[in-house]
Amino acid sequence: MTTTWSNSLKTGLEWQDAQHRELIDEMDLLLNSMETGASREALVEIFYFLDSYVIHHFGEEKTAMEKARYPELGLHLLEHTIFITSLVELKSDLSKNDVSPELKAKTKDQLIDWFVKHIGQVDKKLGAFLITNGLEEA
Ligand SMILES: [Fe+2]
Ligand SMILES: [Fe+2]
Repeated sequence: MTTTWSNSLKTGLEWQDAQHRELIDEMDLLLNSMETGASREALVEIFYFLDSYVIHHFGEEKTAMEKARYPELGLHLLEHTIFITSLVELKSDLSKNDVSPELKAKTKDQLIDWFVKHIGQVDKKLGAFLITNGLEEA
């Protein structure tokens, strides 16, 4: 199970695309590490990276939305909250239990697949709005 970056995920904003790519690579590393039996310490390290990088990324999107007075800011931020909640729950699950098939399935559904869908349905809309309005900088 590998999810890789592809041009079809591009929003057209360089900073946003670069950050999405980094996050997808890291989530893919997380899932592959779970599948190949990496140590809990190694998995926790990946979670720490994801935590801080996703906060950075969502923060930049929020700043861009605020600057642009983006009309769908509220809904977009709500989506980000869902992802953060999943991340916290998965990390807590991993701190108490061994990696199970359920944890792997949740990681795929709630992190990777969710993120790819969010890019396609929500971030692309934001990217297009910022480009149309000449507000590409975060
Ligand atoms: Fe994004
Ligand atoms: Fe987003």
